[in-house]
Amino acid sequence: MSESKRICLLPGDGIGPEITAEAVKVLEVIGAREGVRFEFDEALLGGIAIDETGSPFPEETLAKAHAADAVLLAAIGGPKWDTTDPTKPRPEQGLLGIRKALGLYANLRPVKILDALNDASSLKAEYLEGVDMLIVRELTGGLYFGASGREDGVEGAASGGGEGMRAYDTMEYREYEIERIVRVAFDAARTRGKKVHSVDKANVLESSRLWREVAHRVAADYPDVEVVDQLVDNTAMQLVRWPAQFDVMVTENMFGDILSDEASMLTGSLGMLASASLGDGTALYEPSHGSAPDIAGQGIANPLAMLLSVEMMLRYSFEMHEAADRLAAAIEAVLADGWRTRDIADASTLPQKMVGTKAMGDLVAEKL
Ligand code: IPM
Ligand code: MG
Repeated sequence: MSESKRICLLPGDGIGPEITAEAVKVLEVIGAREGVRFEFDEALLGGIAIDETGSPFPEETLAKAHAADAVLLAAIGGPKWDTTDPTKPRPEQGLLGIRKALGLYANLRPVKILDALNDASSLKAEYLEGVDMLIVRELTGGLYFGASGREDGVEGAASGGGEGMRAYDTMEYREYEIERIVRVAFDAARTRGKKVHSVDKANVLESSRLWREVAHRVAADYPDVEVVDQLVDNTAMQLVRWPAQFDVMVTENMFGDILSDEASMLTGSLGMLASASLGDGTALYEPSHGSAPDIAGQGIANPLAMLLSVEMMLRYSFEMHEAADRLAAAIEAVLADGWRTRDIADASTLPQKMVGTKAMGDLVAEKL
């Protein structure tokens, strides 16, 4: 009798369904080889969920996610649902909703340079030497989840005076929220380069000053790990000046959102950045990129961030480390052979080695 693992699939919007198909393809090969039966249970999230149910995060999706051993999410959102009207549902509410509902406070985004992609980076190869970092982004608090709203008829809010509209978002953290995410970072650093950059804006923000105090309290439990406080604006600069200085970086939700997009360009493309969102229950895996509506349906999206997210799922949720290593090696081998999707192609890419989403998935599956 073979072991079975239930995966809740959330293909979402845009290129989501295309890259999800490649993940399923690759998981089926891995399952057959490892004697593990992966059972897929598809559910709605984001724009498609709004279209079909009116809600970006239907009840049924939460139930399926809870019932699964892991959740694999592709991407959500698109211009079709973009609105600034606060009374209309938005796909992003689905994503934030499932993160919160599953208690996924720790978002791990590894940034590793694959030799084959040195030339795809926007930085010169010499700056990429030794780059291997893990961004630990707090995911269920901070600016994304603090009090927010709009108020009409606010005296003096209109240009030129008079009544107008005020809108606000609040960055707030409780001690325990900071402590648990900082611990994730220190625990990870212990298994890696033993250095943690705690990124904040303590020269301006009160929530950052609390962040810094708590980070240092936690650091005392990890005398073997070096801790560096770094201001977020400086971090944005250091990421392109000397990215190899980072081992583990831990930061507030929105800071991490911004810095991880920036860091993804070191690898050559946002299409290469995977992520794992962990909490105390079922974990969720998703590429860090969006739904790329501009190229949706064309079969040219890069499925590798999705496949690298599958790799993280095999490691963190299923403890299938050998299979994960094999998947990582297969991806590297395909790239080393010169195969490229459009986003990671460079001047040296042979035209006959430019492939689409499906072909890239096939190549990885074959190498397995
Ligand atoms: C990400 C994305 C999301 C975020 C969006 C789609 C809500 O940018 O996962 O980084 O801001 O967290
Ligand atoms: Mg983002």
